[in-house]
Amino acid sequence: MDFAHVPQIAALEEATFSFPWDEASILAELDNPLALWLVVVEDEKVLGYVGSQTVFEDADILNVAVLPAARRRGIAEALMTALESRLSERGAERITLEVRASNAPAIALYRKLGYAQVGLRKNYYEKPREDALILQKQIANQEETIP
Ligand SMILES: CC(C)(COP(=O)(O)OP(=O)(O)OC[C@H]1O[C@@H](n2cnc3c(N)ncnc32)[C@H](O)[C@@H]1OP(=O)(O)O)[C@@H](O)C(=O)NCCC(=O)NCCS
Repeated sequence: MDFAHVPQIAALEEATFSFPWDEASILAELDNPLALWLVVVEDEKVLGYVGSQTVFEDADILNVAVLPAARRRGIAEALMTALESRLSERGAERITLEVRASNAPAIALYRKLGYAQVGLRKNYYEKPREDALILQKQIANQEETIP
């Protein structure tokens, strides 16, 4: 992600989530050494993005979204896979995320990529109130897998 992508990402956040990240918060991620956000861009249009923050070996996915017209083309899967390898290179050992219990498309995506449920937060979300599933995936740390 760079500066030019931020307004489009904020617009997609606004259209997608009950508690969207605003432009200023997304911009601040560009200067946050713990953050890594990736985008898929076609003809200068942001089709999708994923945002993450990493503290030592623990990475959290903050958000992932794809424009409705661009869904089911493998964009989210490509973003998640690229993020995973970049985080692994930086030394992350596991990725954790939260998802609304009713969000079947996202849960299917995460399960396809090998995320497993490690917890449940009752009534975590508002607008509407709903449980959060906590999903996690161990990712290979290249330095540790070299025999
Ligand atoms: C969830 C979301 C990011 C998926 O993006 P996408 O680019 O359409 O997903 P992909 O095309 O990469 O799909 C990869 C896999 O995810 C699963 N999947 C994605 N959308 C699905 C749907 N509507 N129904 C069932 N499975 C779905 C499938 O397993 C799919 O693999 P397949 O195509 O081989 O069946 C997109 O629907 C979205 O932006 N939703 C709104 C925002 C959101 O809910 N974000 C997650 C917050 S935690």
